[in-house]
Formats: sequence, C-alpha cells, structure tokens
Amino acid sequence: MAKYLIFQPLKFRHLTVKNRIFRSSVTGRWDNYNGSGTQARVNWENKFAKGGVGAIISSYVPISIEGRITPNVVTIDCDERIPFWHTVGEAVHRYDCKYILQLSHSGRQRDIEGIENTLTRTHGIEPNPAPSSTDEADQISGLPAVKIPTSKVKEIVQDFAKAAGRAKEAGLDGIELHSSHGYLINQFLSSAINRRKDEYGGELKNRYRFLHEIVREIRKVVGDSFHLQAKISVREFNNIIPPWQRSGNTFEEAIQICQWLEEDGVDAVHVSRGSTFPHPLLPSGPFPIKMFRYTFDTMTSSGGKASFRNLILFRYRFLWPIFQLFWRRLPRKLGDRYQQPVQGLEIQDEWLDEFFKEHVSTEEFKQLLDKHQGTVLRDAKEIKQNLKEIPVITTGGFQQASYINAALEGGYTDAVSMARTLIANNDLVNKFQAGMDIAERPCTYCNDCLGAYLELPLGCYSLDRFYQRSIKNLTDEEQDKAMQEAAKARTEEVMTVFDPPPKPYMPPM
Ligand SMILES: Cc1cc2nc3c(=O)[nH]c(=O)nc-3n(C[C@H](O)[C@H](O)[C@H](O)COP(=O)(O)O)c2cc1C
Ligand code: SF4
Repeated sequence: MAKYLIFQPLKFRHLTVKNRIFRSSVTGRWDNYNGSGTQARVNWENKFAKGGVGAIISSYVPISIEGRITPNVVTIDCDERIPFWHTVGEAVHRYDCKYILQLSHSGRQRDIEGIENTLTRTHGIEPNPAPSSTDEADQISGLPAVKIPTSKVKEIVQDFAKAAGRAKEAGLDGIELHSSHGYLINQFLSSAINRRKDEYGGELKNRYRFLHEIVREIRKVVGDSFHLQAKISVREFNNIIPPWQRSGNTFEEAIQICQWLEEDGVDAVHVSRGSTFPHPLLPSGPFPIKMFRYTFDTMTSSGGKASFRNLILFRYRFLWPIFQLFWRRLPRKLGDRYQQPVQGLEIQDEWLDEFFKEHVSTEEFKQLLDKHQGTVLRDAKEIKQNLKEIPVITTGGFQQASYINAALEGGYTDAVSMARTLIANNDLVNKFQAGMDIAERPCTYCNDCLGAYLELPLGCYSLDRFYQRSIKNLTDEEQDKAMQEAAKARTEEVMTVFDPPPKPYMPPM
C-alpha cells in the first residue's frame, strides 16, 4: 500500500505534508465556557496525529466571542489562547503531523449564543442578533441576524488578521479560512444570502471583497510564507428547505472566487459544498433526527424563530416524515444523476467485521460507499483545472484507500480531507499503511455524530459499529441485552477523549 500516491508527500508553497490525508474539521464541545482550551481537546487531536494523518485541520475556531457557534469551543480571540494552541501543535508534531487552524466566524449561523452574546431586557435576557451580510434569519432554525455597517466589517477583517498572527505565534503550521458552509464569509460570498447594496454586496467582485480584505490583512500580519488555505462551498444549493429560496452562486462564480484567492496569495483551496451547516448534501447521509430528538432542545433558547417548530418536529415520531420530505428533496433529485467518477477495489466480504455485517451487510455497505464517497470530486477536478498551481484538497465521504488513490491518480484532487470516517476510525491511515483498504467497522454515514455534537461529547454514535457479539438466534430480551452492551462500548469509546484527565492545580491565594 505504501507505493500508493496517498503516501507521497504533498508540497504547498511553504508547507510539506507527509501524505495526502487531512483530518477535516470536526467541532466538539470539550472546552471551557470562556473559550479556553482543555486537555480533552489535546487528547482528541492527538488521536488523529497518532492515527497517521498528514495534517489536522482544527475544528471551527472562533476569531471572536461574537463569532462562535456555541460556548465550550476553544477560541483564538485573544493572546491568552496562544500557549494552549502551542501545546496542541507540539502534541501533534511528535507524529510528524502538521496542524492547520480553522479561523471562523459564525455570522448568523450561531447554534447557541452563550451569555456574552445576549441582550438584557426588563423582561429577561435574549440573544443579540449575530453580525451578517443580511438582516434575514438563517433558513433552518431562523437564527437572528443583523446587517452590519462598514465599520464593523472592517473590524471583523482585523479580528481575522489578529487571530492569524496568534496561530503563527503559537507555532502552528498554517491557517484555513472557514469560508464555506454558510458561516460569515460565505454569507458575504453568497448571492443567495448577501443583501448589501454597498461595496460588499451586489456583484461578485463586491461579495468577494470581504474575503479579499481578510486575505490581504492576514498576509500583512503573517507574511507571505505562512500557509494559508480557504474552504469554499463551490456549490451552494441554498434552496434546500424552502424550494422558493434562491439557489446561490453559480459554479462559474465559485471558480472565479478560487482564482481570485490564488491571485491574492492563498496556498490551497479546500473544496466543499452547501450554503448552510448541516446541509442535505454535506455531510452526506440522513438527517440524524433520532439523535436531534435528544439533543436539539439545547438550541431552543437561541432565539431561532424556527427552533421551537423544529424541536416539535424532531420530538414526535409521526412528524418526522414532514421534515424528511424537505430534507431529502435535494439529494433525491440529484442522486439519480450521480455516477461515481472513480472506482476503488470491490469490497470483499471478509474485510468487514462479522458482528458489523449482521447490522450492515456487505451489499448494503457497498451501496453506502457508492452513494457517499467522493461526492464532491467532480467539482474539485474542475476547480483544480481552473487554478494555475495551488493544490486542491477535497472533502466528502472518503474512507477507502484504493478509491482515494484512484482520485489522486485521476487528477481529481491533490489530497483528501476526512471527518466522520476518521471519527469512526481514528487510526484509519495507519490501517491503510498496514495494507488494509477499508476499516473492519467502517463509518456508515449515519450522521449520528453530527446530531450528538450539540449536547454530547463528539464521537461515533453508530450503534451498528459497537456490537460485541452476534445477535443471531437470540430472544428479544437477549437482543436487547446485546444492544445495551453495544451502547456501553460506544460510551466507553466516546469517553476516551477525557483520558488522560487534566491536572487540577491550586489557584493563587
Ligand atoms: C460533527 C461534525 C462537525 C463538523 N464541524 C466542522 C467544522 O467545524 N468546520 C468545517 O469546516 N466543517 C465541519 N464539518 C464538516 C467536515 O469537516 C467535512 O467537510 C464533512 O463532514 C464531509 O466529510 P466526511 O464525509 O469525511 O465527514 C463537520 C462535520 C461533522 C460531522
Ligand atoms: S456516527 Fe459514526 S458511523 Fe455515523 S456518521 Fe458519525 S462517525 Fe460515521
């Protein structure tokens, strides 16, 4: 397997990564409420470095408190965070793994605002609308937004630049701008969301201006040789829930954005899709309604006009088809037209774990792979062909060595990023290195990890992957016992992120 392209180093302008696999960003809520980092965060990142990935792209890291999606995620909003990020970097560098910090601002897509982002009224506290390019609330939860004045836009540009400077000072290897998935930069880029009439709205050049200024100001702070990449939703599909919404930027506009980024001195483009997060097409797979039934209540205080409606929809089983009807509309429409651009090796029955196959058969798993692996590859290839020299990283469903290799050899992308598939198997790259084509208990794209994020420690929650024994020929009662054992194994695995624990220390008197 080592002869595979996967294991050839990837050279960016100023950074070399030992192989072609990046851990994509996955937000977990393990940190302190005030945005300081915890040992659990270090443990989490360490798992993937140890597991063999060439580089880790951090989870969503807010450049300011107003720009976070939720409390309990570590920020980069002040100099006090630098030592923590230095520790994270040092931990992963021990495995010759690079660390790229994802600089992020939520804009209106703020899941839980936290006390700092509230307003106090005589009748109590309520969320302060988040800065955006529009006054319109987001379309999934109806989270409140305010179209910000130019002075505020300039302030946020500077917040990005200062955050980039901190990442460099922490000794990290680069930064990624979270300019995709409907967060603030995407809210400016998108023709479907941006409602401004000034120099930051209207034609594409104006909608790009915010990102252009961020890149320019970052370069002033970190210089030309610090690695800088941008994650872009090259297809927005913004008309996801209400079909009457505008669809967003055209693919030609996305190409133009990537070309401008290259001209502006960005070192790589990370290709993704979707003008909201989550989106029916990313992460691909079902909407994790069973998990949200349990976790979504945490969002009902966020002032989203539709949060309470959603809670009711998720809480009562008989209402699920209503939500699913809208959520599945787009994948259904596009699914018929989707054909894999490349092929990996045929999955062999003996590659998969015996207990896993009792829940997801080899045939079912082949179909899942076919449907979810490499869904953004075709777009990535076109983006790559329209750039001069900077590499392209592509996200979306990758978990099979031979498939990834075919994508690299076919010139579809220069590297792949993996999120859920590495949550399921943190050491997947080491497995590839040992000659395996796929994990014995692979990711099933069920999206339960996504549903869990709001309230539970991030990890794999697919019960199918945790059965400890066969359930064949068991009575109902015995089957239930086997299920409880699987659930226990799942919890134990999720909780490994807290090991080793932090060391308490005595505060000064
Ligand atoms: C639980 C979860 C959290 C995520 N958090 C982020 C994030 O903070 N920033 C980001 O750019 N993408 C985020 N994503 C998207 C992933 O980085 C990735 O682009 C997407 O899941 C597709 O890759 P996959 O099929 O390998 O999961 C998240 C995905 C999941 C499942
Ligand atoms: S819960 Fe596990 S199997 Fe399901 S998508 Fe997440 S990582 Fe994959």
